[in-house]
Amino acid sequence: MIASPNIWHWPAVYEEENRAQDTRGAVYAALRESVDWSGADVVDVGCGSGFHLPMFAQEARAVTGVEPHPPLVDLARRRTAADGTITVLQGDAEQLPLPVSSVDLVHARTAYFFGPGCGAGIAEALRVLRPGGALAVVDLDATAHPYGRWMREDLPHYDPCAVEAFFAAQGFDLRRIDTEWSFPDRDGLERVLGIEFSPRIADRAVRETPGTTLTVRYRLHIRRKPRGLEL
Ligand SMILES: C[S@@+](CC[C@H](N)C(=O)[O-])C[C@H]1O[C@@H](n2cnc3c(N)ncnc32)[C@H](O)[C@@H]1O
Repeated sequence: MIASPNIWHWPAVYEEENRAQDTRGAVYAALRESVDWSGADVVDVGCGSGFHLPMFAQEARAVTGVEPHPPLVDLARRRTAADGTITVLQGDAEQLPLPVSSVDLVHARTAYFFGPGCGAGIAEALRVLRPGGALAVVDLDATAHPYGRWMREDLPHYDPCAVEAFFAAQGFDLRRIDTEWSFPDRDGLERVLGIEFSPRIADRAVRETPGTTLTVRYRLHIRRKPRGLEL
């Protein structure tokens, strides 16, 4: 399991963050342009408290959230209890609790697939995907300012170019998506920056952010499972 202190320790603030993220839906729109999941079987790996599951369930045949952290499994199950198309399973990206060739889209958003080291999860996604299915990895783009600069200052060993080169070498394509995070008030914005960065960088981020909005760029990487023999 990869430690995720933001959502593990502050699930309520992370919920505020998810609600503030990308209020214009640019990431969902880019995903939809790349993959059609209407009538499809979708898995959301590292689904956390299940925030994105209902969005997929609007069009999918069935949606499965997979999450290793038991308190988040509970939250995701509670969120989706009334929707018969959604199932939440405790599990890990490297050992998905799903049969071979059983899903059409494996989606992961800011979860597990962070670059070098996630090869076992890629292989596992390809195992559960049907031929022609897609693995879609959504993550923050640390090359874009201002959010990316704060990320790089906080994580000096994180090399966004190496991460992108890794995904390219694994056969993923790349699309960059500009979004706006929009908060109801300053307090919410400050709470969210406070769980995403160390206290020093969070203070700087708060000082450098006037108002209640923030521009944040994402990366969307997609790799398809071949329909035939890969020679
Ligand atoms: C930053 S949260 C994102 C949650 C969710 N995708 C969202 O966008 O709301 C990262 C999630 O990945 C989960 N995670 C950590 N290690 C994992 C692993 N090995 N396999 C699958 N998920 C993992 C964490 O427990 C956490 O819920």
